[in-house]
Amino acid sequence: MRSGLVAIGALEAARPRKGEAALATAAASGVGHLAVQLARVRGAGRVVGAVSDAGKAGFVRSSGSTTWSSTGRGAGGEPVDYVLDAVGGDMLSPALASLTPGGRLVAYSSGGRTIQAYDLLIGAKSVIGFQMARIARGEPELYERWRRELWELFEEGAVKPAVHGEFALEEAARAHAAIESRGNRGKVVLHP
Ligand SMILES: NC(=O)c1ccc[n+]([C@@H]2O[C@H](COP(=O)([O-])OP(=O)(O)OC[C@H]3O[C@@H](n4cnc5c(N)ncnc54)[C@H](OP(=O)(O)O)[C@@H]3O)[C@@H](O)[C@H]2O)c1
Repeated sequence: MRSGLVAIGALEAARPRKGEAALATAAASGVGHLAVQLARVRGAGRVVGAVSDAGKAGFVRSSGSTTWSSTGRGAGGEPVDYVLDAVGGDMLSPALASLTPGGRLVAYSSGGRTIQAYDLLIGAKSVIGFQMARIARGEPELYERWRRELWELFEEGAVKPAVHGEFALEEAARAHAAIESRGNRGKVVLHP
């Protein structure tokens, strides 16, 4: 649920319009695979999922992305209207470059890195930060609306969270190893 809330919040921050093209980075991650699905459910025309490993392409496609990219650019050089960026760091520049004029990048990662204002001026692009904790603390009604919408989408089967693996608390080191290997497809769950 928590990953879905982050994904829905990042998507709303992008102010998507029906039929727009989207790029989701770390598209196989716990949050990213739900961002791909939610973008489709909310009317995206095309969703590109960026992953670092071709072995994840099938999973990313099964989440509803029309194609995948290993570079963070809209695959095939096709620009996108908005980016949901779960990575930051080295991914920021190619992700910004993939935007159409007037495009929006939602930065919700912990990856950091600096954006040059000039890169935004060219093409009149926007960067929007999103932090779930701020919504949970300061906007409980919005948080509750997103929570309800997600439950409905889960119940209808319109959005399907993927669990990569479940671990008991004593196996926390194995759970961390699964995440650190960057091989997870969906969420890694640790049971208290
Ligand atoms: N803003 C918020 O409120 C909020 C809340 C929760 C989480 N987040 C952020 O959302 C992002 C995704 O979280 P998650 O739990 O879904 O992640 P996750 O399941 O652990 O997946 C992270 C994925 O990021 C990709 N990645 C690309 N560059 C990386 C690098 N240099 N180091 C490590 N991973 C890299 C990897 O996939 P590939 O190798 O396929 O690229 C990796 O599997 C994180 O940045 C997290 O901090 C934000």
